[in-house]
Amino acid sequence: MGVDSFSWKILIEALEKATPIYEEGSRVASLGTIQKFREKAVNLAAEKVTRVEVLFDGGIGPGEMTKTILKRVRSEVVIGLDPSTKMLKKACEELKNLKANLYLVRGVFEYPPLKPETVNLAVFSFSLRDALNLEKTLPQIEKLLKPNGLMLILEVGKPKNRFLRFIYRLYWFIVAPLIVGFKLKIGYENPWRYIYQTYLRLPSNPQLKRMISKNFRILTFKEYFLGFVVTVLACKFRGSNGG
Ligand SMILES: C[S@@+](CC[C@H](N)C(=O)[O-])C[C@H]1O[C@@H](n2cnc3c(N)ncnc32)[C@H](O)[C@@H]1O
Repeated sequence: MGVDSFSWKILIEALEKATPIYEEGSRVASLGTIQKFREKAVNLAAEKVTRVEVLFDGGIGPGEMTKTILKRVRSEVVIGLDPSTKMLKKACEELKNLKANLYLVRGVFEYPPLKPETVNLAVFSFSLRDALNLEKTLPQIEKLLKPNGLMLILEVGKPKNRFLRFIYRLYWFIVAPLIVGFKLKIGYENPWRYIYQTYLRLPSNPQLKRMISKNFRILTFKEYFLGFVVTVLACKFRGSNGG
């Protein structure tokens, strides 16, 4: 499960174009809730840790989740990964006043360019759904984590209930691109219409839970708005990877 390589390229190009308006567009598409959800997700991690050595933000985008998490969890080193140079440049501007050592790396989380067992907390905010293959990506993330390291996911959800799924499909297919297009006055080139493609390929919430539990111990799996958004806090199995 994930996006196929062709549409992934189109998606990344669309995200690159959207970089200057990404945060505003995401705020509109989420009906003003995106930052609240980032804070809710961060609360889950902050209940377990308030200080780490290495924080990893996979699919950092313009860096808003990194900013949000660093308000609650201090880190000496922050590594932000993204395939988009434009997103990384924007993150560099947005995070220039960070107290932590910031490393912005161009790459993908399917092949993370980091040594195994280097990360205490890995965060994925609305980015994991863009993985080319989610099932193959999760073990890669597990390898990155130190023993007992944590993974925090905030993602668009896909409920089990078919009727709700139908409503949410309509939302991502028609409503979200329309309201963003209208509010930000963007026409056909509207990058928010690609969310639908990634939504279609998302596993359902119960499938996602099963997939994660193959490689991690799930500490919290929360669904909001009847499964429209999910937050997951999971821990690396103690002693795996020889730890
Ligand atoms: C919707 S944005 C989310 C940005 C940010 N995390 C947030 O909370 O707003 C998704 C980000 O994931 C990045 N991305 C997409 N596929 C990726 C991959 N395979 N590996 C790493 N990052 C990826 C995109 O370039 C984009 O910056």
